Amino acid sequence: MNILVTGGAGYIGSHTVVELINAGHGVVIVDNFSNSKPEAISRVEQITSSKIKFYEADIRDKAAMEHIFSENKFDCCIHFAGFKAVGESVIKPGKYYENNIVGTLVLLDVMRKYACKNIIFSSSATVYGDPAFVPITEKCPKGLCTNPYGKTKSMLEDILTDFHTADLKTNDPDPWNIVLLRYFNPVGAHKSGLIGEDPKGIPNNLMPYITQVAAGKLDHLTVFGNDYKTHDGTGVRDYIHVVDLAKGHVKALAAIEKKCGVAVYNLGTGKGYSVLDIVHAFEEANDLKIPYEIGPRRPGDIAECYSSPEKARAELGWTAENGIVEMCRDSWNWQKNNPDGY
Ligand code: NAD
Ligand code: UFG
Repeated sequence: MNILVTGGAGYIGSHTVVELINAGHGVVIVDNFSNSKPEAISRVEQITSSKIKFYEADIRDKAAMEHIFSENKFDCCIHFAGFKAVGESVIKPGKYYENNIVGTLVLLDVMRKYACKNIIFSSSATVYGDPAFVPITEKCPKGLCTNPYGKTKSMLEDILTDFHTADLKTNDPDPWNIVLLRYFNPVGAHKSGLIGEDPKGIPNNLMPYITQVAAGKLDHLTVFGNDYKTHDGTGVRDYIHVVDLAKGHVKALAAIEKKCGVAVYNLGTGKGYSVLDIVHAFEEANDLKIPYEIGPRRPGDIAECYSSPEKARAELGWTAENGIVEMCRDSWNWQKNNPDGY
């Protein structure tokens, strides 16, 4: 397939582009580099020994998007472009609604105009809110998102579903096919150490924070609360290696090919690890010490969040292959080789 990857220079997008090219797909990237650098694309070219077509453009810029669609014929779009910082979204909600919602609406409009009505969307486990049960299956009801970022994901899932429903109601002969991928906690990096997560400023997420402590850039980790109802009191999450996540997108193309309508899949490993499990696994995998102290809970955090990845296994033939050791090793390998990011 020929695939437009929005946000393809970003963390998950760059790893997905590698896997798409490895699987023989054509790829065109659009990114405005608001949270990434062109160097990421050069690195992907190095890994895949191929030249990648990319456009520096904002997906909210309709004329630019029309230009891209008029120059290329796409079978599908994998849509990563958006802002993702939970804390910032609370302070600057307009920035998040504008980029994530308006950006997606412009993209959908142009896609429809150019008869490309197949899209894979980066959603998040955050749409489950504080989940009604764990392991979370796709049947688990969506929950209350406590921040604007999470709300944009939930709203965009609804918007995309409405687009498909409208096509059915109007007997559109070419209805939208939409895959909503709910990611759990992506970590790790490509084995080459050439691409990885490159957060701006002090990281908000656990794994990049730990790698920066390991590198001596940060003094110690603060564990946000040890009084949750979990096996050691610290928060439990389903960490997934970014290369496995990337491969999930390649597998999801099969659902698009089968004209899935709207299909929802969790992408996780099904295993929950606490903050302290991760600290200890990281120390063991890399033979390093991570100094930490226990601090108060972070507002909005939940005790436990881990997936049942069974539906993706049964319907897409996808299962995460990397375990916690690989996640910790590859995260550190990336940080060590790229102390200042790209
Ligand atoms: P990222 O910030 O590394 O990548 C996003 C990319 O989109 C960046 O390269 C950025 O420059 C680009 N972008 C942003 N707005 C744009 C615009 N208007 N026009 C063009 N390009 C634009 O983030 P990521 O971790 O790779 O996440 C990718 C997607 O997955 C996001 O939608 C994110 O919300 C979602 N997601 C991420 C996580 C996570 O923990 N990383 C979890 C669940 C869902
Ligand atoms: N944590 C710490 N100290 C830190 C950072 C995190 O103890 O310095 C803890 C958190 O309290 C939580 C766990 O580590 O228990 C994981 O926290 P992250 O910030 O790495 O990830 P979250 O689960 O909070 O959120 C992530 C993404 C969201 C996404 C969500 C569900 O950041 O965008 O997963 O997919 F919505």
